[in-house]
Amino acid sequence: MFEQLTLLPADPILGLMALFRQDANPRKVDLGVGIYKNEQGETPVLASVRTAEQQVLARQTSKAYVGPAGNLLFNQSLSELLLGSSVALTDGRFAAVQTPGGCGALRVAAELIKAARPSAAIWVSDPTWGNHIPLLGNAGLAIHTYPYFNPADSSVNFTAMMDALAQVPAGDLVLLHGCCHNPSGADLNPAQWRQIAELALTKGFTPFVDMAYQGFGEGVEVDAYGLRYLAEHLPEVVVAASCSKNFGVYRERVGLVGLLAANGGTAKAAMSHMQTIVRGIYSMPPDHGAAVVAEVLTDPALRARWAVEVTEMRDRINGLRADFSTTMESRLREDRFKFVQRQRGMFSFLGLSEAEVLRLRGEYGIYMLNSSRASIAGLNRQNLEYVCDAVAAVVQG
Ligand code: LMR
Repeated sequence: MFEQLTLLPADPILGLMALFRQDANPRKVDLGVGIYKNEQGETPVLASVRTAEQQVLARQTSKAYVGPAGNLLFNQSLSELLLGSSVALTDGRFAAVQTPGGCGALRVAAELIKAARPSAAIWVSDPTWGNHIPLLGNAGLAIHTYPYFNPADSSVNFTAMMDALAQVPAGDLVLLHGCCHNPSGADLNPAQWRQIAELALTKGFTPFVDMAYQGFGEGVEVDAYGLRYLAEHLPEVVVAASCSKNFGVYRERVGLVGLLAANGGTAKAAMSHMQTIVRGIYSMPPDHGAAVVAEVLTDPALRARWAVEVTEMRDRINGLRADFSTTMESRLREDRFKFVQRQRGMFSFLGLSEAEVLRLRGEYGIYMLNSSRASIAGLNRQNLEYVCDAVAAVVQG
């Protein structure tokens, strides 16, 4: 029967990782997948995480099952990182389970939404992270898009976004990137978050926040502004979080899905559904990464060390954004790439055509997504000039 299967195209992000590995060009530069890299082009284990791992392993006496909700200390400490001092954390309205990465969180959230309201649609930004649509859509939910990014000025097209969200039917969900929008790097400001909260209240849609880069934009607390504001002002919010980037635990698959419900009874029921959903998909999440993140967040010395490490990663990316903008300005004698400096997070669209992207790949070994989404953390002092010269060459024809 399996001869019915035909070869599928590679995933645009993971397929590009494989192409990059195969490229023999010694000057090749990876601006593809969203993995933080340091000045040496490496993705080292954070020192806070390394120590936490040693502490966790030294204490561990068993590998017995944990359970579908995962590590409860992790759930509590990551919920606090996300929601701050929100009363929802103490009044029993927030139900959360540990998941295999942010992807697991998105999928469990989609299954929970389907269990609660099979006809609900999810509205995602245009553009959004490529994997949002399969992760949410494969659960059987309808997906629609709302306008988000204006390529003409590389900013959020907030008027068009709000006009579209005003048409979202009550009972649908609107997926919002908590910070560091992937792929555009264009974020909502606090006043815009407040307007979205007001619209959600009057129209009756439920915000669904994907928080995959907390700490990579302006800071761990500032980046949570939108999510926390929604949590304070709305009866219901869904959140999917990833620790891949801010703890650098990509391959450990550490994430969390949470529901802020209108009351404690609904939160309790949702918790039972999430655990049943998890049991029916993968039974329970892996333990190690979440135990390590919980250790970092609850050990004061490790937490302080981690805060410094997140700041270093963020400052490096923001410094590269500034360096890229000024170097491009010196090459082109125009400020066409100035927007890279004001955007936030791992990614920006460079505004290149697909032909220009393919030329960068073929002639220079510089890899970014065909959409010209570039992972800024892939730049460093050794390759910045090379990349800027190459981008200048392709845009000048
Ligand atoms: C990305 O967007 O590059 C990252 O989130 C990695 C992934 O899984 O796609």
